[in-house]
Amino acid sequence: MRTIAAARHRCHCEERSDEAIPRAGWPRRNAEYRTTCSAFQVGTLLLLAGIVIGGAPAAAHADSAEVAAGRAIAADGVAPGRPGCAACHMQDGSGQPDVGIPRLAGLTAPYLLDQLNYFASGLRQNAAMGPYARMLTPAQQQQVAAYFASLPLPQAPEPPDFRATQVSRGRTVFLNGDERTNLLACALCHGPTALGVGDFSPDLGGQSGPYIEEQLTHWHAGGLRDPKGAFMRAEAGHLTSADIEAVAAYLASLQDTERKP
Ligand code: HEC
Ligand code: HEC
Repeated sequence: MRTIAAARHRCHCEERSDEAIPRAGWPRRNAEYRTTCSAFQVGTLLLLAGIVIGGAPAAAHADSAEVAAGRAIAADGVAPGRPGCAACHMQDGSGQPDVGIPRLAGLTAPYLLDQLNYFASGLRQNAAMGPYARMLTPAQQQQVAAYFASLPLPQAPEPPDFRATQVSRGRTVFLNGDERTNLLACALCHGPTALGVGDFSPDLGGQSGPYIEEQLTHWHAGGLRDPKGAFMRAEAGHLTSADIEAVAAYLASLQDTERKP
């Protein structure tokens, strides 16, 4: 938990209780998730097809005035005496992987917007983020989401010094899941190279390891985080704490070159 303590120090993050991870799995059957997941995948594919046919270009243009306004919010913030998002997430959206501040660059605008709304309404609780999300008007939320979504994936971080066996176990978990614990393959919902599936699930590759660990631990302990977190709460209930560390190590170490289709 040293990394999380460091994050608190660097960005005044909330005090979190370091809950013990319950060992027992959640009393749900694997089949339930498989059905839910594939139903969602079909839904997502239909949605994506609809977007492609129905003219995503309108969104893709996400006019540059909006992006420029978002860039200014990221740099300077919106309230006197309060820094911009860049103070914690960096102007290029790369975050601070070592202390658990997530990368925002490359996440989709709808995902970013959802999360900002959840933080602002208190559905997703975080003492560091809540105030910053609440400061934004709906128009400013849109602008800052458009800005971070427009950024290229930042330079892949230096491969962290994780044990190779951990990364290799993490890769197996990500790609295959684990039949013994009824764990679905993460790739099923996040895609084989962790790029995420449209607006359904976020990109995870090269994301901060401590941040991933913290999210998974929260879901494993039964937290919801936000409405769509139900998928992850069900999934993380089947993860052991060793596998949480392994899959976080694998995802954090995933280099961009391994991910391009
Ligand atoms: C004081 C530091 C700090 C500032 C300033 C800050 N954030 Fe954050 N942000 C965090 C932390 C810490 C988290 C991780 C929260 C958690 O663990 O749930 C986070 C998470 C997020 C997430 C969720 C990412 C994900 O993958 O789900 C979004 C979106 C976000 N921040 C956007 C912003 C925007 C936009 C601004 C500026 C208006 C901003 N943040 C300013 C610290 C900060
Ligand atoms: C059934 C589909 C499904 C499966 C299987 C799944 N995920 Fe997810 N995952 C999601 C969805 C949907 C979200 C977005 C949740 C939200 O918005 O709160 C998500 C979000 C996440 C996040 C939060 C990312 C962020 O930026 O905050 C992490 C970390 C994550 N998943 C890791 C994993 C790992 C590791 C596995 C495999 C052990 C996995 N997921 C398996 C659907 C899934």
